[in-house]
Amino acid sequence: MSADGVNKERRRFLVATTSAVGAVGAGLAAVPFISSWKPSAKAQAVGAPVQVNIAKLGEGQLLKVQWRGQTIGVLRRSKANLDDLPQVDAKLRDPMSEDSIQPEYITGEPRALRPEFLVVNMHCTHLGCVPTLVPQVGPQPFEADWKGGFYCPCHKSKFDMAGRVYQGVPAPTNLTIPPYSFADDNTIIIGVNPEGAA
Ligand code: FES
Repeated sequence: MSADGVNKERRRFLVATTSAVGAVGAGLAAVPFISSWKPSAKAQAVGAPVQVNIAKLGEGQLLKVQWRGQTIGVLRRSKANLDDLPQVDAKLRDPMSEDSIQPEYITGEPRALRPEFLVVNMHCTHLGCVPTLVPQVGPQPFEADWKGGFYCPCHKSKFDMAGRVYQGVPAPTNLTIPPYSFADDNTIIIGVNPEGAA
């Protein structure tokens, strides 16, 4: 993908994010307690933010939710997973996500607001299949020195535990990170930027 293409996509992404913030800001002003705020099925269908409770999400577990017709994964990573991220940088196409789509406030290898929790659009950036989480570390049929990650059996794309794409596979970019924020320690809001983030 050309640099121009990426910038255009990023711009589109940021415009969409800004609209979501506006809509939610109004909702929060009207309803003071976010735990009691439940968008209607119709609102969810057109893209309202989605609230995810992560209180019971154990290490290595992946929770999937639907947002704007996309499957969004919330993966709880262990300290070992996070320590392994730099180990695979040399095998990746875009280790620092310079050509991949993610909010400006997501930086570095973990690609997350809180390193423990990866929030990621699960659709493969090749043709949109949903890859399988393969968290086991060790030799796999598709990668001898596997440190855990996502494997897309459709056309054999591989991503690490931060959704970063390996070199030499069909997927052109890392898995996309959607806008999100934490309402409290146990609640992620997908579709709303953190306070103060553009
Ligand atoms: S859709 Fe994932 S590799 Fe083709």
